[in-house]
Amino acid sequence: MRTWLITGTSRGIGRAIAEVALAAGHRVILTARRPSSVEDLHQQYPEQTMLFPLDVQQRTQAFHVVSAAAKAGFVPSVLVNNAGYGLVGALEDLTPESIQRQVDTNLLGVIWMCQAVLPHMRQNGGGFIFNISSIAGYFGFKGTTLYNATKFAVTGLSEALAQEVAPFGIYVCNVAPGPYRTDWAGSSLEKAPSLEHLNPNSPYYELHALMAERYAQMNGQQPGDPKHIAHVLLHCVEMGWAPKHLILGDEARQTWDKYTSLRNFPELQFIAHTEEAPIRP
Ligand SMILES: NC(=O)c1ccc[n+]([C@@H]2O[C@H](COP(=O)([O-])OP(=O)(O)OC[C@H]3O[C@@H](n4cnc5c(N)ncnc54)[C@H](OP(=O)(O)O)[C@@H]3O)[C@@H](O)[C@H]2O)c1
Repeated sequence: MRTWLITGTSRGIGRAIAEVALAAGHRVILTARRPSSVEDLHQQYPEQTMLFPLDVQQRTQAFHVVSAAAKAGFVPSVLVNNAGYGLVGALEDLTPESIQRQVDTNLLGVIWMCQAVLPHMRQNGGGFIFNISSIAGYFGFKGTTLYNATKFAVTGLSEALAQEVAPFGIYVCNVAPGPYRTDWAGSSLEKAPSLEHLNPNSPYYELHALMAERYAQMNGQQPGDPKHIAHVLLHCVEMGWAPKHLILGDEARQTWDKYTSLRNFPELQFIAHTEEAPIRP
């Protein structure tokens, strides 16, 4: 039996991971911006859970949750950095506030949680950190620049941190799902104003019209079941090992194969010490 700390357990993937871990007999520190959203799970498993309000943008709150839980005997040995959302629309049209929020949540939130939990894991001789990145943390797509930027950053952070903390018996795993059925493409999705209200005069009108249609069609129809992600993480924890990268779902695999084998970095050039001029095609 281990103690998990999961961010964003109100719904979607975070909620599914909490449910599966609890049903398997583990303890879970449930966290959510609105604790009432996960109160039912707390009541269903009163002995196995603690519940805290947590907005991952708030570093002090993150540290408070970890130390209060640890004081009560809930010392986390599995951290799931799940809280996050998509910000979409052409870069030019994104507001500074929305950009800041995306970075604060998807990237800095992960960093604060890792910093808060790592001392405990080191002292206890190991643990697991699962960072829910995305297949968008490996490949960039037009219209999702900021989401890509934060998820690429999480992928880089995970890869580097995995090496840094391996000597302490801590596994860091970058979890990269493709499309799974959650509110990601629905109520959670933040759109640039010119995508939210399609503007035919915008230079990005065609892109935005395409994206609006794509997200409307995708919402609720994603092939992946969030419980699948939960079971994969549970397997890792129960076998006592996790890979550094997990690409989850058939669609993510297809994207991976397409972009790595067909056109990964099509304009990449290697410049040796003896060369200066890139070759113009
Ligand atoms: N679903 C997919 O297809 C997919 C694919 C790749 C990666 N992901 C990633 O998976 C993670 C979970 O998303 P999901 O698909 O489960 O979407 P979701 O159903 O929209 O759930 C998002 C969760 O994140 C929480 N959250 C957002 N901002 C937060 C903050 N500042 N502090 C604390 N919690 C916050 C939400 O809380 P509230 O209820 O308070 O809003 C909610 O619990 C995200 O990191 C997402 O980028 C999802």
